[in-house]
Amino acid sequence: MKKINIAIDGTSSTGKSTLAKQIANKLNYIYIDSGAMYRCVTLYAIQNNWLNTSRFDKEPLIGSLPNIHLKFALNEKTNDQTIFLNGVSVENEIRSMEVSNAVSRVAAVPEIRKAMVRLQHDFGKDKGVVMDGRDIGTVVFPNAELKLFLTCSAKVRAQRRYEEMQQKGISVSFDQVLSNIKSRDHLDSSRSDSPLIKASDALEINTENRSVDELLGQVLELISSKINS
Ligand code: DC
Repeated sequence: MKKINIAIDGTSSTGKSTLAKQIANKLNYIYIDSGAMYRCVTLYAIQNNWLNTSRFDKEPLIGSLPNIHLKFALNEKTNDQTIFLNGVSVENEIRSMEVSNAVSRVAAVPEIRKAMVRLQHDFGKDKGVVMDGRDIGTVVFPNAELKLFLTCSAKVRAQRRYEEMQQKGISVSFDQVLSNIKSRDHLDSSRSDSPLIKASDALEINTENRSVDELLGQVLELISSKINS
């Protein structure tokens, strides 16, 4: 059957990854979480003491990009597809508040974006990829056959994220999560390189009062019409 690439963009915690994972499971497509890639680069910078709340040494990080190897693979312990940074599964580490608070600064660096986009192109070259992020429909796959742009209020998104973090045992307050979401919304939408904007041919969907199943049903119909067109 013909395979297509699907781009899902939107601010954080709009439900992009939940939807993308379900599409990938249903259609046997590859799911790529592009945000996890920027999170890994951020973690690498923190581990090397190049990044903290007051300082960001971009040059050594840019120089080290060839040493940062990212791959998505099954984590046998959790039976989930996760990202590996230089061979180590770092799924929990990249979701910490420390990484969340710093990632937008790292993702605004053009040299870093260029390296990530090159990898993302490679992941999508054979089609059959669902990728979520901020610039997938505008920059990474401008010719994706289906582009979605998800929206949802900051309060509802913060609540979703807060509950996820509580379940994982991460100690954080609702206000910290809300303030992180608002600050990333601002930084991700106002940066000069590949800011978060809706592609003109993307379908905008508000996920606030939609169940995952209902949303998935709608999107699978759209995919089927794209495949058969
Ligand atoms: O999807 P996420 O919240 O895990 O993404 C983390 C950060 O990475 C987000 O604040 C902005 C950045 N990002 C980006 O700039 N471009 C992408 N394609 C995906 C994420």
